[in-house]
Amino acid sequence: MDKDTEKDYLLKAIAAFKRKFMVISPEYKILASSSRLDGTIDSEIIGRHCYKALYGRSLPCNNCSVKEAKDKRRPALTPKQGNSLDLDEMPCYFAYPIFSGDDIEAFVSMDFDLPTRGGLEEKLHRSNAFLRNLIFSSVDCVIAADKKGKILIFNDPASQVFGYAEDEALNSLNVRNIYPGNQAFEVMRNLRSKEYGGKGKLKLYQTDVITKNGEIIPIKLNASIIYENGQEIATIGFFRDMREEFRIKNKLENTQIQLLQAEKMSSLGKLAAGVAHQLNNPLGGITLFAKLIQEEYDLEEGAQEDLRRILKDAQRCRDTVKELLEFTRQTRHLMRPHDVNQTISRTLYLLERQTLFQNIEIETDLDASLPLVQSDIQQLNHLFMNIILNAAQAMEEKGRLMVKSELMPNGERVFIEISDTGPGIPEDILPHIFEPFFTTKEEGKGTGLGLSLAYSIVRNHGGNITAKSTPGQGTTFIIEFPVADKENQGEESGDKI
Ligand SMILES: Nc1ncnc2c1ncn2[C@@H]1O[C@H](COP(=O)(O)OP(=O)(O)OP(=O)(O)O)[C@@H](O)[C@H]1O
Ligand SMILES: [Mg+2]
Repeated sequence: MDKDTEKDYLLKAIAAFKRKFMVISPEYKILASSSRLDGTIDSEIIGRHCYKALYGRSLPCNNCSVKEAKDKRRPALTPKQGNSLDLDEMPCYFAYPIFSGDDIEAFVSMDFDLPTRGGLEEKLHRSNAFLRNLIFSSVDCVIAADKKGKILIFNDPASQVFGYAEDEALNSLNVRNIYPGNQAFEVMRNLRSKEYGGKGKLKLYQTDVITKNGEIIPIKLNASIIYENGQEIATIGFFRDMREEFRIKNKLENTQIQLLQAEKMSSLGKLAAGVAHQLNNPLGGITLFAKLIQEEYDLEEGAQEDLRRILKDAQRCRDTVKELLEFTRQTRHLMRPHDVNQTISRTLYLLERQTLFQNIEIETDLDASLPLVQSDIQQLNHLFMNIILNAAQAMEEKGRLMVKSELMPNGERVFIEISDTGPGIPEDILPHIFEPFFTTKEEGKGTGLGLSLAYSIVRNHGGNITAKSTPGQGTTFIIEFPVADKENQGEESGDKI
């Protein structure tokens, strides 16, 4: 069969097909039309712009499939919309490019969707775009990886948490490296086991991830293995950053502890205040009558000396009562500029007479020019009381306690160091001492709340507290507080002794 006969058959086949299609140039000119073969379209349209010849427009239509195929260099489908496109009449539903090498020579525009790869590709492309949109709109981090750990999906929230751009993650990050240590293997092992939500699933699994700059972040993970014909082909994980939730939980816990401790201190305070008040009157009487005897009787020197001793001791008792009342004063939390040295001295004054301190040598080095600190006096009392009591308890009533205060060279922070010569804190215990309810003391001897309260007091004051220890040689607590504003420095607190 010669070529002309073959062409003839092809044309007849197209005419018999009864569907409309056209060949359109990249400039939107009609180069050929199937309708011409069966005589349904005016032969004048050849060589004219399709938008003009078919729709009487002066510019290409907005939803033109040829235009889309031209922009994307692949088959394009025009969604049926509006009235401008009457598909019974016009061949503008589906278009695909005809390539000549790398260039597009023309487009075939037709009135039906090809049930072939072109159409499917387009649909696939659209449903992929929809899925991608879905994944990228997720509030959680979504990360998918193939069997080798190569990342396939890394959405925006993941970029924000991990610090890798999407491209960077897809090209150079392995999913194993988003977990610290060998946690990735742990995750995979648990994923394959049945214990965490069924085989191939992890539900609300708590673990850590590591960001690009090395920060460890706690997360909750929902993950699945993706299977194809029973074979593992990929994994997908939905991560939730738990930092904020943990922060709120910690804050709540701290508040609870503070309440507990405040309640304990408050009932102790009430008791002490009651006793102090009761002591105050007889002490007043002792002083008054001792003074009367001193003035009204002509006593021999020995008796005078005894009276002076009575008066001196009575005065000491009154001072102690006054301190105790000051210490237990039930005030609301009130932030005022206070002299930290004074608070330290008051605490030491109250404690040094206790039997616990009998064989403890107390050494102070308090900087007299220390600026005031914006603080709640009661909380500061509790802070120093807890730390100094711990030191005395650790030294088992024998040793040396050193308290030092100074202004840091930048003049912005006050620095307080409380050291003891006790047994020190073992390395494995040191990281836990500020945790609530952590205690190494026997049951009934310690609640483990002292230092956690101290910690939250210091943090509430914008300060910092750390502990260092050389086991066998003692422990040092270092506390820093920001200095009160300049305008508050002159305003002495009303809480002076
Ligand atoms: N100066 C210190 N020397 C050695 N160990 C210390 C010292 N201070 C604290 N610790 C350790 O830290 C733990 C926690 O101290 P914290 O004050 O929070 O609780 P506690 O003293 O055990 O109980 P509580 O103060 O509630 O009665 C103590 O049990 C102790 O092991
Ligand atoms: Mg304690």
